[in-house]
Amino acid sequence: MATDRAVSGFQLARPGATSARPSRPGDVDAATSPEETLSEDALLDLSLDLAGHDVEETLTRLDAELIGLANVKERVREIAALLMIDRARRRFGLESSRPTMHMSFTGGPGTGKTTVALRMAHMLHALGYIRKPKVHTVTRDDLVGQFIGHTAPKTKEALAKAAGGVLFIDEAYYLFRPENERDYGQEVIEILLQEMENERANLVVIFAGYPDRMDRFFSANPGLSSRVPHHLEFADYTHGELMSIAELMVAGENFRFDSAARTAFGQYLTARMTRPRFSNARSVRNAIDRARLRQAKRLVELARPLSKSDLVTLCDADIYGSSVFSDAKQDAKQDAKQEVQVAPCPID
Ligand SMILES: Nc1ncnc2c1ncn2[C@@H]1O[C@H](COP(=O)(O)OP(=O)(O)O)[C@@H](O)[C@H]1O
Ligand SMILES: [Mg+2]
Repeated sequence: MATDRAVSGFQLARPGATSARPSRPGDVDAATSPEETLSEDALLDLSLDLAGHDVEETLTRLDAELIGLANVKERVREIAALLMIDRARRRFGLESSRPTMHMSFTGGPGTGKTTVALRMAHMLHALGYIRKPKVHTVTRDDLVGQFIGHTAPKTKEALAKAAGGVLFIDEAYYLFRPENERDYGQEVIEILLQEMENERANLVVIFAGYPDRMDRFFSANPGLSSRVPHHLEFADYTHGELMSIAELMVAGENFRFDSAARTAFGQYLTARMTRPRFSNARSVRNAIDRARLRQAKRLVELARPLSKSDLVTLCDADIYGSSVFSDAKQDAKQDAKQEVQVAPCPID
């Protein structure tokens, strides 16, 4: 059980003690008994907690692999610190209630909520707070039944799948339909509330969605709101951040932009950001996928032997092929078209 694991995993820093390797929660051969309560004058070295190493690794990766999100990263660090200290306190026999870890992630589409939820699950697992580093994602349709009597079994099934890990409820506000007083969503909320209170359920619930709608959802459900102490806000990315995300994604797939493609992608983003259904980093990923399609077609049509450089390079024509540039309503159209005409793709 998580509470057992939460107290283990530390190496004791005691004068004269040999420094054995740090221990991890669940290690059977940990040098000190994980259950041993420390004496009043013992000193506990947090840096020797291997769970802490896992957490540090997760936080370092979060910093390196996710652009921006400074406030989210800060909140994740705070949550990690809270759990590390909770573990340390238990080693001294200091009982307190298990910290509540239910959260809300508010932000537009493609701002990194699902990605951070996965990292969060790894971190909570490393710290022994949950049994498995898994996120089970659901939306209203996975929880609410069509007919009377169908909702509770559906919700319970979802809870069973998520048990021991994280239940991520995307667009959670759709659970609440005030205009329809007989809506089954209310039943889901009541079942969730019970499960969120149940420590043995070993479950973390994350409610995710657009900020304004989530605010209204929590205001209308104060019981729920009071059980969700951690609110992480995911802002829309700036143009510069989206460019950095694009570079990261392109490099991650062993591609690269040549300099004209980089300029073209900047123009693409400027135009795309003002258009409907813009979804932050997700739109960037989709744009790169489509650029890869155009690159592939361009390379096949070259009908000549290809170099490694051909295969890795996205050039401006691969970007300017986007319909964003051919939309007559877009201001970007004129500039972009001119660029396409004057900037043929380099051959290698
Ligand atoms: N800050 C970021 N840095 C790099 N990639 C990101 C960042 N935020 C999101 N992504 C990527 O964008 C895509 C969409 O992110 P996702 O977490 O699904 O967003 P959301 O759940 O908020 O809609 C994923 O491929 C994710 O890896
Ligand atoms: Mg998502």
